[in-house]
Amino acid sequence: MKSFKVDEDQRNPVLVSDFSDVELPPLREVPGMTSASEGRYLYWLASSQLSGEGELVEIGSWLGRSTMHLAAGLRRTGSQENLHCFDGFAWGPSDPQKSDLPLRPGDNFQAYFEANLADYSDLVSAHRTRIANIAWTGQPVEVLFLDAPKKLTEITRCLEVFGPSLIPGRSIIAIQDYQYFPAYALAACMYSLRDCLELIHVVLDGSTVAFRVTAPVDLVSEKPSDWQLNRWTVEQVNSAWQQILAPLPEKARERLEPGRALHLYDCGAKREAIAAMKALPMTPFQQDKIGGLARGHIYLSYPELFTAAGFPGSPKQNLLVHVKRARDWLRELRA
Ligand SMILES: C[S@@+](CC[C@H](N)C(=O)[O-])C[C@H]1O[C@@H](n2cnc3c(N)ncnc32)[C@H](O)[C@@H]1O
Repeated sequence: MKSFKVDEDQRNPVLVSDFSDVELPPLREVPGMTSASEGRYLYWLASSQLSGEGELVEIGSWLGRSTMHLAAGLRRTGSQENLHCFDGFAWGPSDPQKSDLPLRPGDNFQAYFEANLADYSDLVSAHRTRIANIAWTGQPVEVLFLDAPKKLTEITRCLEVFGPSLIPGRSIIAIQDYQYFPAYALAACMYSLRDCLELIHVVLDGSTVAFRVTAPVDLVSEKPSDWQLNRWTVEQVNSAWQQILAPLPEKARERLEPGRALHLYDCGAKREAIAAMKALPMTPFQQDKIGGLARGHIYLSYPELFTAAGFPGSPKQNLLVHVKRARDWLRELRA
């Protein structure tokens, strides 16, 4: 397996890999939003890294690509654990770009998920729910795979519900999109939980990382005070991001690093945010990613940052920025 220790000083070195040496069993072709490396990682995780002390929970299954890799891993070991999949199963407006199923936005697609997972129906159970309403039995959870929560409220909700069931010293929280900078809240939240988590896996050619739970995660009785991500000071943001980025390999760092600029911007530190954007090495990957995103909706939230990165947006986008700001201002005034 291609792997290396990022930081020799760390007590528990981080496994960094594209998991290309993992041999998968024959699997169905299921459309998905997780990469081939992430699929191999999930299979490897479920087939070789678990003790059987708890259940597996996936939040955000879509049509079941990641689910299938986890389930195939469980099947390989003959494990008795179940894989519980939570999803709203409501077809999203951008889903038709990734699948040509005959569905309209809002349609329930749980039946397609279940058909794709038919070979594993003895191991997998689907729970149709929004994250806001998610509930759990309280059974121990050995793997919590998050691929739906990307924002603070959703992440904290998942951790409130499943945190008490995570087993210190054993459970793993694997997070898709951790390396995707627009979802920087994931990294900032995990940083806030740094006293009970340690980074253990970084998937290359994907955006998943995983943490081992080292101490009880109980956000119900003890909410960390610094979770209001948009209230951090510039010093707090900079110090956090130094620690977030330090253990990551270069390929993961270049994916996540623009998140520091977005975080500063959301804290109202626009000058520092622009400086952070300008200070990026602007590797070809960053150029490509930031340039691609600049054409989308996210531009309206961070126009100065994309402009600082060399992507000033079209006249239509900049007009929409003014409309959005006027609308936000009115909303605040009413509130
Ligand atoms: C990125 S996709 C998951 C991709 C999947 N893991 C794969 O391998 O292809 C995110 C999924 O999370 C679900 N989701 C997003 N926000 C949600 C919410 N607030 N409540 C419930 N489900 C949600 C969506 O319905 C979607 O199926």
